[in-house]
Amino acid sequence: MAINNSFFYKRRSVTAKNMLANKVSENDLKDILSAGIRVPDHGALNPWKIVVIKDERLEKFDKEVILKEFLRANPNASEKEIEIESSRLQRGGVVLAVLSTPVEHPKIPKWEMQLSSAAVCMNLLSCAQSKGYAAQWITEWYAYNKVVIEKLGGDFNRDKISGFIYIGQQSEPPKERRRPNPDDIISYY
Ligand SMILES: Cc1cc2nc3c(=O)[nH]c(=O)nc-3n(C[C@H](O)[C@H](O)[C@H](O)COP(=O)(O)O)c2cc1C
Repeated sequence: MAINNSFFYKRRSVTAKNMLANKVSENDLKDILSAGIRVPDHGALNPWKIVVIKDERLEKFDKEVILKEFLRANPNASEKEIEIESSRLQRGGVVLAVLSTPVEHPKIPKWEMQLSSAAVCMNLLSCAQSKGYAAQWITEWYAYNKVVIEKLGGDFNRDKISGFIYIGQQSEPPKERRRPNPDDIISYY
């Protein structure tokens, strides 16, 4: 057991707000995506999809989808709000939208398919962070928006966005956040 796994004891997210929107190399992105789809998945149903949003598509999605949807719901938005909503995805160098796309199955419950989709998010996040990138798993309001889900190829009545994995560069190491006391969480039967 000589493998150095210290990464998993220290892993930390960097908020999208605090990351630099530098590009992620194509090779690293390929590795991150292949780690992302290598997850436990009952019945090998692959009940998830990943949509890669990068380069000029980040701004396009911000302006043509997120901002538009925000303004539709908030026609009297302030300048500050418009500024935030017109550049959401552009906080990252690449954003990976993970959709949970459950299928009908006689034995495997939908809940397990949704759990597997969370595993995709966690693998994408961990892999990006293990390579030294700043990364965060977020949903924010637009993960629950019908048009956003549809623009990403999902069916609003069936699919859900498990998360957006923002990946960029660190400007400084993140501070530790409050972590649970193991004794409050873990017990021995
Ligand atoms: C499903 C899910 C959705 C989340 N959505 C948000 C969000 O919208 N905004 C936010 O600031 N953090 C959100 N978080 C929390 C952050 O991803 C994360 O918990 C926090 O940055 C600390 O993560 P770390 O333990 O990797 O350091 C979400 C987490 C999960 C699991």
